[in-house]
Amino acid sequence: MPFHAIIKGHLKKLDGYEIDLIAPSHGPLYDDPSFIFDAYKDWVLDPPKNLVLLPYVSMHGSTAMMVERLIAALSEREVRVEPFNMTVTDLGKLAINLVDAASVVFATPTVLVGSHPGIVSAAYLVNALRPKLRYAAVIGSYGWRGRTVEQIMDLTKNLKVEWFDPIMTKGLPDKAALAELDRLAETIAQKHREL
Ligand SMILES: Cc1cc2nc3c(=O)[nH]c(=O)nc-3n(C[C@H](O)[C@H](O)[C@H](O)COP(=O)(O)O)c2cc1C
Repeated sequence: MPFHAIIKGHLKKLDGYEIDLIAPSHGPLYDDPSFIFDAYKDWVLDPPKNLVLLPYVSMHGSTAMMVERLIAALSEREVRVEPFNMTVTDLGKLAINLVDAASVVFATPTVLVGSHPGIVSAAYLVNALRPKLRYAAVIGSYGWRGRTVEQIMDLTKNLKVEWFDPIMTKGLPDKAALAELDRLAETIAQKHREL
């Protein structure tokens, strides 16, 4: 993921060649180069897929309610969504899904005036891998105040994404917050259709 631009350039250079065998500097020889080329093209050239990555943590259930609502609203609109509970997720699984995702929504409670450490770690990884993501948002819950949204945006400066308005609720989400989540799902579905 971090080498998109370089790989794109290399694919272009190799376009005019008829290649029988790929002999990398280490590892096995590949006598079916199209398999390798198609995989690289899929990873770097294609537009991202109709997929939302949803890393989340919830200590007392408020953010979890928001996550459930967003998953339902996205599914109703035929947007695929992969939720990852960051207290138990294998980071490798998150990384694999990042290859294709068009959007990421970070869902976090406010802890010690910032994001939960599980989401900080997800944001760090997403930023380091520089995936093809086009859209991002932060949702979650707080008790009094924090720099949760700003902190996640600061941690993901490498991303070239359009940020949707954050949805942060005080304690449990009320009806208005749930309606906002439906609107967020609608916006994401529309943007993905345009892709
Ligand atoms: C250890 C801990 C630290 C917290 N720190 C903050 C904080 O700094 N600022 C704040 O607004 N709320 C803070 N809260 C309150 C939570 O953000 C709030 O209860 C929120 O609704 C929890 O969301 P959840 O139910 O998804 O876990 C803290 C709660 C806990 C348990």
